[in-house]
Amino acid sequence: MAQISGVQSWCLGVTIQLVLAAALLHQGFATVAPPTAAPHKDLGKPERGNYRVNNSNNTACLLASMGLQLNITFNSDSQNKTVQDVVNLDPNVTKSSGSCDSDSAYLRLTTDSEKTNLTLFFTLNTTSNKYHLSEVSLTANWPDMKVPFSAHNRSLDYLRGTLGYSYMCREEQTLAVTQDLSINTFQVQVQPFGLSGNQFGTAEECQLDEDDMLIPIIVGAALAGLVLIVLLAYLIGRKRSHAGYQTI
Ligand SMILES: *[C@@H]1O[C@H](CO)[C@@H](O)[C@H](O)[C@H]1NC(C)=O
Ligand SMILES: *[C@@H]1O[C@H](CO)[C@@H](O)[C@H](O)[C@H]1NC(C)=O
Ligand SMILES: *[C@@H]1O[C@H](CO)[C@@H](O)[C@H](O)[C@H]1NC(C)=O
Ligand SMILES: *[C@@H]1O[C@H](CO)[C@@H](O)[C@H](O)[C@H]1NC(C)=O
Repeated sequence: MAQISGVQSWCLGVTIQLVLAAALLHQGFATVAPPTAAPHKDLGKPERGNYRVNNSNNTACLLASMGLQLNITFNSDSQNKTVQDVVNLDPNVTKSSGSCDSDSAYLRLTTDSEKTNLTLFFTLNTTSNKYHLSEVSLTANWPDMKVPFSAHNRSLDYLRGTLGYSYMCREEQTLAVTQDLSINTFQVQVQPFGLSGNQFGTAEECQLDEDDMLIPIIVGAALAGLVLIVLLAYLIGRKRSHAGYQTI
């Protein structure tokens, strides 16, 4: 009897310690993950906007839900030098427009009083049925800019998805456009081709998200394995003490 309760309490103690260790380990990983904020100001994450482009018969041909942050390097009028500014795109004052063709589509986002125009071009490869963000253009005319800002890159390869599916990335991503412009995206879901019924197709998760989900899966699997070992140890212990009891 004493042997059984000894094995039992040992099992319980080990299980609790392992669960605690796994929980701490996971927390440790989680606190490493969030990206560091802008060094010069605490901006916070941009609000997520829902944007839509319609085709000629008024159904959606491009859908996008995302938070966008622009990181621009420009010549400041007041400081008389090159400065770097990070600005969140506010969906409440952003209008969307655009157009869709069979193998190309674009989404144009224009902010309040047309001080910022951002255009995202998507291309569909009709052989492989894969699409991607291929081109980005930005013009901006902010109060402190010495001259209006303009950046354009036609050879990009971001947000890769499959025709009929939407591209999804919950994690923050940085899209480098030119030396003077990068765009931080937050909680992106986008589909520039192959929509049906004004809705996103099944989501294809980005690699960053899959990596992030891998840690809980590994911890979970390890825990399940340990619980099994502890259970086996307990059963073996019980059987042994039972056998001992019978010989008496
Ligand atoms: C903005 O871009 C600069 C230069 O590329 C970089 O050092 C900085 O970390 C970026 N800031 C954010 C918040 O992305
Ligand atoms: C389209 O995809 C095919 C097959 O993956 C590839 O061989 C071809 O180069 C791609 N075309 C373009 C324009 O990228
Ligand atoms: C943005 O686009 C509108 C409409 O084409 C234009 O009138 C405006 O000047 C543009 N703004 C900038 C900063 O280029
Ligand atoms: C456009 O993007 C590509 C791929 O990121 C990069 O190699 C190229 O230097 C960029 N072009 C310009 C003009 O910044």
